[in-house]
Amino acid sequence: MSTGSTVLDTSLSNVSLGSSFPEERDTEIEHEVKCLSIIVLGASGDLAKKKTFPALFHLFQQGFLQENDVHIFGYARTKLSDDDLRERIRGYLSHKSSSGQTEVLSRFLQLIKYVSGSYDSEDGFQLLNKEISEHEISKNSQPGTSRRLFYLALPPSVYPSVCRMIRRYCMNQSDLGGWTRIVVEKPFGKDLKSAEDLSAQLGELFDEQQLYRIDHYLGKELVQNLLVVRFANRFFLPLWNRDNIDNIQIVFREDFGTEGRGGYFDEYGIIRDIIQNHLLQVLCLVAMEKPVSLKPEHIRDEKVKVLQSVLPIKLEEVVLGQYEGYKDDSTVSDSSNTPTFATVILRIDNERWEGHNFHLLDLSMCKKQGRNELVIRLQPSEAMYMKLTVKKPGLEMSTIQSELDLSYGLRYQDVKIPEAYERLILDTIRGDQQHFVRRDELRVAWEIFTPLLHRIDAGQLEPISYKPGSRGPAEADELLAKAGYVQTHGYIWIPPTLD
Ligand SMILES: NC(=O)c1ccc[n+]([C@@H]2O[C@H](COP(=O)([O-])OP(=O)(O)OC[C@H]3O[C@@H](n4cnc5c(N)ncnc54)[C@H](OP(=O)(O)O)[C@@H]3O)[C@@H](O)[C@H]2O)c1
Repeated sequence: MSTGSTVLDTSLSNVSLGSSFPEERDTEIEHEVKCLSIIVLGASGDLAKKKTFPALFHLFQQGFLQENDVHIFGYARTKLSDDDLRERIRGYLSHKSSSGQTEVLSRFLQLIKYVSGSYDSEDGFQLLNKEISEHEISKNSQPGTSRRLFYLALPPSVYPSVCRMIRRYCMNQSDLGGWTRIVVEKPFGKDLKSAEDLSAQLGELFDEQQLYRIDHYLGKELVQNLLVVRFANRFFLPLWNRDNIDNIQIVFREDFGTEGRGGYFDEYGIIRDIIQNHLLQVLCLVAMEKPVSLKPEHIRDEKVKVLQSVLPIKLEEVVLGQYEGYKDDSTVSDSSNTPTFATVILRIDNERWEGHNFHLLDLSMCKKQGRNELVIRLQPSEAMYMKLTVKKPGLEMSTIQSELDLSYGLRYQDVKIPEAYERLILDTIRGDQQHFVRRDELRVAWEIFTPLLHRIDAGQLEPISYKPGSRGPAEADELLAKAGYVQTHGYIWIPPTLD
């Protein structure tokens, strides 16, 4: 969603203050030079214009997509000319480019072609294949030897038919040195069974190495840094466990409502939209054991192990909320039971974390005078800060809570932190699956939440009403207090500015 802000941070309380990762780079990541076609299916839609095309444009601006070997195709049912599509997306790209870059923008737009067709029509996909092949031939590629990246910016209901059509008409041959990769968007399924069914259908058409499931779009920079901070700092290593960390809160908050996407949201709710994927990913990174290496498969192995150790959610450790006015959205049913807020306590049953609480919330930052907290703020205003008690400056001998602060914008002023979608697309081109969810990982993530979701869907758990812009229902704070976390007031972290 374009306006307002989304805050995602992770707070570890009472980290009282390591061996390191080997200095290793993933040498198995592919560095390709062959002709590349990027096909955005659902090009007429919301995601395509707001995220996919802007991400492609940024990659182009930074030289990761080269004019002489890339072509971009939009595909959807809506009848559009090439120029219509270009004009539709131009406004989402131009504000990102300075005046001197107008020429870069028009060069980028010229790389885009549009093909209209339905998602189950042979004609449409044959035409698409013809257009792609012509582009490949114009770049002197032999048939079958090029790279084709299909980005499904589409509702999941059409994934199976689209994938069948791609498989039948638009494949490049890996045995000829080419590849075909498919990016699918979240939500992947609505519960364990539907996710498994969808996985099975796609699994019959493509192998796991060809499927890139976007399950979260956390800032990759900070996600990677989380691993480095945990495992490359000797003082954290002996402390990162239940004996030294009182509780971990993974907090997500937004200061805006459904904004025209109420129909979508009402079908999914906050647990499917945010908690089951985004917040669970953060939990994995905070809780997992040190992977054998930074290779994508090793990291994903450790994430799966953490998820497998999560105990069944207890209903008495869940508080659901729905903000007042949610049902005023004309696309939301008047009798909607969909939660827009949830606090869920997860317990991980392994040696490191047994008896420890992970709180997944979508409210606001937690504060408590006097206890140490390490806050890792993923977005926006990326930062890591450590709350600690110091002497209040002045003649009096009194204490105050302050922080050791690493604010990325301030510390690394010349470095642009890439948008999550840019990284995800670049990772797909390079064949790096670390930030895409693996089939077994997806299954365990759904196993954790499906029993709870079925109870909500059956109306057995009702959300409590709360005021928009508030911390959510008071019952959520009461639940945290029962679990041992008491919020205290007074401390507020003020993101530093350059002014
Ligand atoms: N928008 C976001 O910010 C966002 C964020 C995260 C994930 N996603 C996910 O990304 C995917 C696309 O999202 P979106 O917001 O771009 O969706 P959208 O605008 O509703 O749909 C994208 C395009 O798909 C086609 N379409 C829509 N409904 C269809 C249906 N029932 N059957 C066949 N085609 C249909 C339409 O194109 P034509 O009619 O021209 O064919 C539409 O322009 C979804 O899976 C969504 O959950 C979106």
